This record gives sequence, C-alpha cells and structure tokens, in this order.
Amino acid sequence: MPAGVIRDLLDTASAFESGFRGDELSGRLVANLFFENSTRTRCSFEVAASRLGARSINLGASGSSVAKGESELDTALQLDAMGVDAIVVRSSVNGMPARMAERCTAPIVNAGDGRHEHPSQALLDLLTIRSRLGRLDGLRVAIVGDIANSRVARSNIYGLEAMGAHVVLVGPPGMVDESFAGLGPEGRTTVSHDLDSVIPEVDVLMMLRIQRERGAASPIPSDYRVSYGMTRERADALRPDQWLMHPGPVNQGVEIDPEVLRSFPRSLIEAQVSNGVLMRSAILLRAIARS
Ligand code: CP
Repeated sequence: MPAGVIRDLLDTASAFESGFRGDELSGRLVANLFFENSTRTRCSFEVAASRLGARSINLGASGSSVAKGESELDTALQLDAMGVDAIVVRSSVNGMPARMAERCTAPIVNAGDGRHEHPSQALLDLLTIRSRLGRLDGLRVAIVGDIANSRVARSNIYGLEAMGAHVVLVGPPGMVDESFAGLGPEGRTTVSHDLDSVIPEVDVLMMLRIQRERGAASPIPSDYRVSYGMTRERADALRPDQWLMHPGPVNQGVEIDPEVLRSFPRSLIEAQVSNGVLMRSAILLRAIARS
C-alpha cells in the first residue's frame, strides 16, 4: 500500500472524529467472514458499516457450511455471487484474502490472515499515534514481544516505515531474530533482545500478545514478564513523552501488569479500540467507492 493511500485513509478516518453523516454507504451490504476468533476487529467492522448506513452479514466457521467441509475460498465465492458490496475476511491461512481477491468481484478487505498481515490494525495504530503525538515522521516505535507470530508487527513495520517512523523489534531470541532486521519498505527496522536499553530511545512502546494458538511457548516462560513485560516499575519509570500501546487482547500480568493496564495515564489502548471504528469506516468507504 503506497504512502499516499495510507495518508488518505488516515485523513478520512480523522475526519470521522467529528461524526458520520450516516448515509455514506446507504443501501450497501458488507459480508464479514471471520474464520478465526475476534472481538475488536469483527465488531468494529460491524459498527463501522452501521455508522455509514450499510448493513452487515456476519459469518464464522461454526454455523456456516465451512463446518460441513466447504472451503473458506468457496464460502467467499458464495457471498460474492449474492452480490455483496464488500467482503471482510479473517483467516488463519496466510494469503487467504489475496486468494479471494483474485476470484471475487467484490472488494476483499483483509481483517488479519495467519501470521502474515493485519493491515486495518496497523492503520488504526498509525491513526492513534498521529492523533495523539501529532506526527509519525521521525518517531521511534518499539514493538515488543512475540514478533515471530505477529501479523500486527509485520503490518506495523510496513506502515510505520512508509510514514517515516523508525521501528525497533524487541523480544527474546525465540520470538525475534536478526532475520527481521531490515524488514519494511525503507529497511530501517532493527532488532534488540534488551528492552531496558531500548526504552529510553523510543517515543512509543507497542506491546504484543504472546500467541499460544500459533505455537508460541506454552506455558509462557516465567521470566518473560521480568525481561519483556510492561511492569509497574517500568511504567513508572517512563518519561512523560512516552506512550503505551497494545492491539489486544492482553495476557494480563505477562505483557502488561494489570494495574498498568487499568491506570497508566499515557496508555493509548482504549483509543486504539475507538479508532478502530474510524479507520475501518475509512477502509470500507474507500473499498466500496473504488469497486
Ligand atoms: N487486535 C485484534 O485483532 O483483536 P481481535 O482479535 O479481538 O479482533
């Protein structure tokens, strides 16, 4: 996605902060196909469609003919044949939305595929940072944790670099290694295994969930919180110009201590959820207007 498109989406989403007209997508129909569990992404696409005056059809693996053996691709093709205006897809299969886009007439919106990409999450993260810090260009962002399993990390590396930010990936050697250095369109991403040495250098700390469902260490190593968690002590030591993010859901007491999650004054986590509706509205509007 070119930087110009990212900028347009950020500007459209920001404009929705002052409200929706309510008929932007009046009479349109959005199909949400969520073959993997989700709360934030699924519900915010539904809320976004509703705010824009569109209606939604919601389908998961259970309750659909996927449970009888129909493939995810064939399921999308059925909805496409019914004439829906956009298909939003979450899948555990890397590249499934791209495969659907090759075969469907309706625009396909990637709501997270395997370990590959989660573009709408990264876009709402960019929106959240730009809204609160006023810019993206030149910022330094640490992405901390289970990088190897994280589609959020991959999409954020791309988006942050495209908008001029610098990314440092932090985690234990089993969750991030040097092969991740240089990822991103500008090749500026670096890798560290020492969170405490990185913290003073960054403007934003984006903590990630350890993804046990994708084979991350189970049980979670007992020293993970001490080495890589946003503990109360680390949060208390952050400068007044440093901000905390997490895409959710959070493994509380592992990636972030519960009291930090409840009361850290420079947490952007709730703003990320609210901005999800604004960004997904911008995405649906662009996808349907261009189809
Ligand atoms: N961040 C995110 O994708 O959350 P959900 O799995 O709840 O959609």
